Amino acid sequence: MALVPSYIQSLANYVPGKPIEEVQRELGMDHVDKLASNENPLGPSPKAVEAMAKSLSELHRYPDVFGFELKTKLANRFNIKIDNVILGGGSEGIMSTIMRTFLLSDDEMVSAANSFIGFRVLANASGRKIHWVPMKNHHYDLQAMADKVNDYTKIIYIANPDNPMGTYITRKEFDEFYAHIPERVLIILDEAYFEFAQHNADYPDSMTYRYDNVITLRTFSKAYGLAGLRIGYGFAHDELIGNLNKVKEPFSPSLIALTAGSAALDDEPFLQKTLEINHTGYTFFKNELTKLGIQWVPSVANFITTVWDSESQASNVTKSLLKQGIIVRNLKPFGWPDCIRISIGTSDENSRCINALKIIL
Ligand SMILES: Cc1ncc(COP(=O)(O)O)c(C=O)c1O
Repeated sequence: MALVPSYIQSLANYVPGKPIEEVQRELGMDHVDKLASNENPLGPSPKAVEAMAKSLSELHRYPDVFGFELKTKLANRFNIKIDNVILGGGSEGIMSTIMRTFLLSDDEMVSAANSFIGFRVLANASGRKIHWVPMKNHHYDLQAMADKVNDYTKIIYIANPDNPMGTYITRKEFDEFYAHIPERVLIILDEAYFEFAQHNADYPDSMTYRYDNVITLRTFSKAYGLAGLRIGYGFAHDELIGNLNKVKEPFSPSLIALTAGSAALDDEPFLQKTLEINHTGYTFFKNELTKLGIQWVPSVANFITTVWDSESQASNVTKSLLKQGIIVRNLKPFGWPDCIRISIGTSDENSRCINALKIIL
């Protein structure tokens, strides 16, 4: 159709992890575990749920365009000014605003091939040239990415930790990389799994060095259990934020999302429980997978990626797990056809997954 630009026509649809209801329907099962989308196995933050329930009677009102309450809380929490904070419909919503704000028609982007698929979808839809740099040993290859920077480069995207591998770049690696990047290039540091990764001593919490050309993105989707709500935030130089604010959808995030985000930030017990259950679950998977002789990639996020002998083996294991009521993420659409990503669940979910793997093997 002539109306549709060719770079849009050639895009493939995003294929999400299978929803629980679909699998229940297809397999006629009452109980299905979803360990496929790195969601919080404890559910949403209870404080957020309580606050949302209270705000329902206000839904005839538009949300505060400025998001004052939540931005103030974030600014206080992270010791920055409110003008350095942006809110959006998930961190993906902010990524989309970043591309619409900063990219001129000739501008290019650089990122890792086979990293976060959400960025890939948005980047491909922008119609700009993108240098997808292969990863090395399941890690971002920052040296090779720096080598791709040219006069047209406008944005570099780094997911730290990466999804789907769960690997991270260290402070030293980032500092060396940063030294090679011109100031006119914007670096997006996507820290969607920051809360899970921050306890590693060499993990570069990007709040500790605020460069003018770095934007940090974080989200309430993972550690706070609010993926279905779509709320995320970013930190950057006030001039960058000011311009992003001019371009973003004025009434995003929704009133209910702002309310939930504010309450979730105060839900320290829930956050601690989330981190605890994740740590226990990850240790369990590590040990059990090793005992089963299944290869896995060390992760600092809320999932663990397993590596199989071949694409067909990974595909068979994914299907067999599904038949036993366990949805995991086959990583072929991400570009890792021999890998399966398993989100860390509750201890019952984790045990059922390992038992199912034992049956398969
Ligand atoms: C690296 C990474 N960034 C961003 C997101 C999406 O975050 P949000 O739900 O805030 O858009 C995800 C979700 O899977 C992710 O893995």
